[in-house]
Amino acid sequence: MKKILIALLAVLLAVPAQADEGMWLPVLINQRIKDMRAKGFKLKAEDVYSVNKACLKDAVVLFGSGCTGELVSGEGLLFTNHHCGYGQIQRHSSVEHDYLKDGFWAMSRDQELPNKGLTVSFLEYMEEVTDAVLKGYGEGMTERQRDSVIKVNSQALVADAVKEGKGLRANVEALFYGNQYFLFVFRTFKDVRLVGAPPSSIGKFGGDTDNWMWPRHTGDFSIFRIYADKDNNPADYSPENVPYHPKKFFKISTKGVKEGDFTFVYGCPGSTKEYVTSDEVEYTGSVSDPKKIDLRTKRLDIMKKYMGQSQAVRIQYSSKAANVSNAWKKWQGEEKGIRRMKTVEKKKEYQERFKEWAKGTRYDGLVEKLETLYQKRNPYFLAYEYYNETVRSIELLQIASTVMMIIKNKEAKDAVAEQFFKDYYQPIDEEIFVAMLKAFDSEMSDEFKPQYFKEKLKSYGSVEAWQKDIYAKSLFTDKERVLALTKDDAEAIKNDPAYQMYDAFYKWYFNTLRPVINDVNSQIRLAYRDYMQGQMDYEPQKQFYPDANLTLRIAYGNVKGYSPADGVYYSPVSTLKGIIEKDNPNIFDYNIPQALRDIYAEGGHDDQPVCFLATNHTTGGNSGSPIINADGNLIGINFDRVWEGTMSDIVYDPSVCRNISLDIRYLLFNIEHIGHAEYLFNEMVFAD
Ligand code: ARG
Ligand code: GLU
Repeated sequence: MKKILIALLAVLLAVPAQADEGMWLPVLINQRIKDMRAKGFKLKAEDVYSVNKACLKDAVVLFGSGCTGELVSGEGLLFTNHHCGYGQIQRHSSVEHDYLKDGFWAMSRDQELPNKGLTVSFLEYMEEVTDAVLKGYGEGMTERQRDSVIKVNSQALVADAVKEGKGLRANVEALFYGNQYFLFVFRTFKDVRLVGAPPSSIGKFGGDTDNWMWPRHTGDFSIFRIYADKDNNPADYSPENVPYHPKKFFKISTKGVKEGDFTFVYGCPGSTKEYVTSDEVEYTGSVSDPKKIDLRTKRLDIMKKYMGQSQAVRIQYSSKAANVSNAWKKWQGEEKGIRRMKTVEKKKEYQERFKEWAKGTRYDGLVEKLETLYQKRNPYFLAYEYYNETVRSIELLQIASTVMMIIKNKEAKDAVAEQFFKDYYQPIDEEIFVAMLKAFDSEMSDEFKPQYFKEKLKSYGSVEAWQKDIYAKSLFTDKERVLALTKDDAEAIKNDPAYQMYDAFYKWYFNTLRPVINDVNSQIRLAYRDYMQGQMDYEPQKQFYPDANLTLRIAYGNVKGYSPADGVYYSPVSTLKGIIEKDNPNIFDYNIPQALRDIYAEGGHDDQPVCFLATNHTTGGNSGSPIINADGNLIGINFDRVWEGTMSDIVYDPSVCRNISLDIRYLLFNIEHIGHAEYLFNEMVFAD
């Protein structure tokens, strides 16, 4: 009787997935379409996802290895973010043609720039294959046997799915911690050319100051084109290739957005953990995030000090500092958000109810088991995170290990060395060495310090003395000596103090931390397979969406402002007027191109929209995703979230979780007024 009551209570207490929470699988669109339409969407399920007919999914691509892009013409034209095309733009840049600084605009097809290694992938179809993947698996088999059953079956499914060739590739992904398996079949194109990019002072406007923030005014876009062979199939780069004709491309809406409008983001979110226990959340919010934030604050302070003293150093370190600061800022929002949402406490309450319900079922004891596993894992994992954020952040050790790895290939080694020393400023690295090793020394308990570390520190007497000696003796501080190395120098490198330090720490990690972490993590994953299923059985009426894993998803919501703090309200649309307000030639992040000032001075552009906020549930990987209106037309490009809402990877709060998108009209404005590449409009289709 008690059980029934508890079950009943669980049903009553269970909240369905929050209004705008969720990253849904397109193939299950039928489960969402009613809700989407109730919220204003006008298209049908098969317009969003269909295997038989061209639909919106055919206009969305995985761009590179971690961004999204969208097709906007019948001639293979593609939009993504500036920060997603950044590497390509940088690689084409030189002192004579600084496309990062000045922007790049092809004025005709033959000026478009090929990009070795860049691919885009279209999802052909996805389907659930759980039964096929588990065929042959039976009661009593060990986990290892289960894994090998899965491996063999998956290989067969993949081989069958790609047998036509023509750029097809496939993989089987575990969703819901291995309770379900899906086959994803992609077509991958390898000839993708750069068509246009604004100057960084537009594409990265606001830099790290504005990153993860609202109000935002970043023109974060770049434009590419996909090429195919004459039969419209994927092909390696060739001048003979022709623009790819996609099955579908987005029409562009210039109608504009206003508060309340329906929005829908179609893209490839990378990673979330919405169904973990309070132990994992507590570790993230109270241990991992704050400690990593501290370490990165130290590194950033050192970089900023030297960057402020020299323009040359600022250029060398701006991209490195941006990388360090991106996660640093995100973690601050995440940590705060977890605390504000009382996620640990709420998860604990939930777990108590779950435990009660689970008594006598196969889920009995699971929460406790996870607790024990986390207790075992956390100290090892923390040591690993410390190692990662301290020792592995020392550039001298990085170059030593990279050179050792590729010493056999002189050309590759020399290219790496040139690139490394172009952006290397030793005083920064020396200071980071000292700060990071001191932090490692004071924060790690004796048990988690490598013997090598203890001995060195003892023999040198201080981290400073160690630093002086290693930078004086290592050959890796000297570009000419690194360039002079040949494949016969591997032995010499083994005796270099920087390489030795790298190697000693790596071996310690490999032999003492990694085995424990891997072993416990696989037990944790296993427990989560049951705990996930348990959560689904516990709340059978709730609609669960699988954690993100870089597979194509749908998130929908609406244009909406938010209140970041008491007494403050952010409205959801930003304009060119705000760029002019921020403009300051003396502040690097806010120094806009003169052309933009001139256009503004002409008048009439005050209300030119730039960015907007919406409630779509997104994460890293959604950068470059199309944001779509009720009619299925393109209104913008997703590129960020607000930092107050970054805990949405763990817990979504409808009151502050907002994604930030570039308004498509600002992209068009840039093509016209900055790039003067209006010819591109001819191949786009404007919906209204
Ligand atoms: N925060 C965005 C993301 O997570 C943009 C990062 C690039 N921009 C920057 N200023 N670091 O990727
Ligand atoms: N800028 C992120 C990306 O590169 C998206 C921001 C986020 O939502 O995490 O994917």
